[in-house]
Amino acid sequence: LVLIIDFGGQYNQLIARRVRDLKVYSEIVPHTVSLERIKELNPKAIIFTGGPNSVYEENSPKINKEIFNLGIPILGICYGAQLIAYSLGGEVKKAETREYGKVELEIIAESKLYENVEKKSVCWMSHTDYVESLPEGFVVTARTESCKTASFENEGKKIFAVQYHPEVLHTQEGEKIISNFLYNVAKVNGTWIMSEFVENKVKELREKIGNKKVLCALSGGVDSSVASVLVSKAVGNQLTCIFVDHGLLRKNEAEQVEEAIAKNYELNFIKVDAKDRFLNKLKGITDPETKRKIIGEEFIRVFEEEAKKIGEVDFLVQGTIYPDVIESGVGDSAVIKSHHNVGGLPENVDFKEIIEPLRDLFKDEVRKVGLELGLPHHLVFRQPFPGPGLAIRIIGEVTEEKLEILREADAIFREEIMNSVEEPNINQYFAVLTNIKSVGVMGDGRTYDYTIALRAVQTIDFMTAEFAQIPWELLGHISSRIVNEVEHVNRIVYDITNKPPATIEWE
Ligand code: XMP
Repeated sequence: LVLIIDFGGQYNQLIARRVRDLKVYSEIVPHTVSLERIKELNPKAIIFTGGPNSVYEENSPKINKEIFNLGIPILGICYGAQLIAYSLGGEVKKAETREYGKVELEIIAESKLYENVEKKSVCWMSHTDYVESLPEGFVVTARTESCKTASFENEGKKIFAVQYHPEVLHTQEGEKIISNFLYNVAKVNGTWIMSEFVENKVKELREKIGNKKVLCALSGGVDSSVASVLVSKAVGNQLTCIFVDHGLLRKNEAEQVEEAIAKNYELNFIKVDAKDRFLNKLKGITDPETKRKIIGEEFIRVFEEEAKKIGEVDFLVQGTIYPDVIESGVGDSAVIKSHHNVGGLPENVDFKEIIEPLRDLFKDEVRKVGLELGLPHHLVFRQPFPGPGLAIRIIGEVTEEKLEILREADAIFREEIMNSVEEPNINQYFAVLTNIKSVGVMGDGRTYDYTIALRAVQTIDFMTAEFAQIPWELLGHISSRIVNEVEHVNRIVYDITNKPPATIEWE
């Protein structure tokens, strides 16, 4: 275990992620963690994160100095570096200007941190305070033009401090530096692999749940599927999964989820056919946010009703993963769209506690866990699919007829892309039923039918995206297949907008 002590910096999860990418398990704890707790956790190394404060302010987060006497290797980053200096008798000052962005880092002394690291490279800086004088026993090991103490250390005490951010990708040698700290200094063994995560989590869940009852709302998405299967590995039939089929899923999707989960794992699988209910609620509704809210609420109502039949349960499983925690608006970012599978908790379900077995995992780690657990590839690598489903890919009112048209067109589009060489470069692709009808000609007759829009994007984080440059030939082929095979479609358009200004979905 590597313990990451959080001083409120914006890159804290990134540090955890880098450490884990290097196959070392890391956990983030608040800076208020007690010394006893640290001893109990017995980490192989400790990392202090950055943070927005100044160490010399009275109320800025501090740390019990005893931590430096535990003999555990410590790496302080940014605020963490300043805190090391300040706590041990050095001096920290406010600079006149902020050092921000890519800066050349020059290594000026030998250090275990810098083995096989280029003497000069680019690092990422973001600070106003700086370390003016070092505590006794420390030496400077690197500098930048405006920061003479870009890194310093007391090798004997295994305390290292870097003013720059090695966890940020802009720091060219960042990964090597973190790796050196972990493997060279702290002598960790890289055993954080998902098979061990599964083993440990299953054990932990088993202990926590005992012989009590667990309930889970399964959406068919990667997160809730992996969470359910993980819990099922731990407690088998004590878990009941409720899968609400709201009728807004893609072609064959409900069957695939049932096939992948109900048939292969030990759990109680309850499939609720709520198609008519959702369609009724959506009758006449055209506003995107209203659609989302109705579906979100109805989903919870259906779930509650089913849960009532089961009676009291002890735990409710949620497929929350770390990015959900950020996106659900803990911060102040504006609500662009209300996401339905985050935050909405049933009020009338009798449960005592929530379990979120994937809460600390990044998406790629969740996928690895899914594969570890034997879930099929198509489910594990499923594209993101919004909770409100096809309802937000049908502009205007949602009807059974439109759903049918969209399902067919979407299936053709996805099949064609899936079988093309373009697939690995496209991160999400789907069809949208625009509410536009236009005139066409088929055979000798006039048609007046729907326009389907195709959407395909390249993105890393789904926060920004570029439209995929699919070859005309392939688009042409897809277009004629859809028009020929799907009734009531006579026109296909391709969406060539990036995000921003558009979003990935149309609603
Ligand atoms: P937008 O349309 O906001 O979508 O650019 C970004 C990503 O989020 C997905 N999305 C959702 N996912 N519940 C989800 O789990 C939702 O309500 C929801 N709405 C959009 C979208 O498919 C894209 O990948």
